[in-house]
Amino acid sequence: KLGADDYLSKPFSMEELHILIDNLVDNVRRLKGKFSGALVQEDKMAKIELTDEEIKQKIDEAIEIMEKAYVPYSKFPVAAILIDENGKTYKGVNVENASYGLGLCAERNAITSAVTDGMKKIHYIVVVADTKGPVSPCGACRQVISEFSNKDTRIIMSNKNYDYKVWDVEEMIPGAFGPEDL
Ligand code: THU
Repeated sequence: KLGADDYLSKPFSMEELHILIDNLVDNVRRLKGKFSGALVQEDKMAKIELTDEEIKQKIDEAIEIMEKAYVPYSKFPVAAILIDENGKTYKGVNVENASYGLGLCAERNAITSAVTDGMKKIHYIVVVADTKGPVSPCGACRQVISEFSNKDTRIIMSNKNYDYKVWDVEEMIPGAFGPEDL
């Protein structure tokens, strides 16, 4: 392995040049891995702790957009409010289709708009439906939420009466399939 002194004190042999180039390529690969995509940002999450009052405000925001849900078939509106690692807010409602299987969930709709706008990590996702207790996100949404989550991510599920509970990603989907399983 070459040290800084070796680079400075004498002209390079071809072999040394190759080693140098290999090292540079390795570094570039590492940096690209470090700064690209949704896996990063672990340390970048602005740790905003939501108070009970603020959580209720987010639930209100979700309740407000529930009427936008397109649910002629299930008549079960769901709304999601997503807050990303920079404190930016995104919204989603469920959008169904006469071809039933094509229906889209509120959570994934919020996530796709957030990703389109540059979101890297979910800090909070607040999911609300008109249920008896807190709504339970479907398995597919849990998997997709986990793709954009880290240890600081909080999943808040509620009904319209502010009956809410909070999970971290491991509670939401224990042992989720992730990039490390590929
Ligand atoms: N739904 C969601 O939007 N999110 C969930 O986590 C649960 C289910 C939607 C899908 C469908 O439009 C309706 O609720 C009934 O299943």
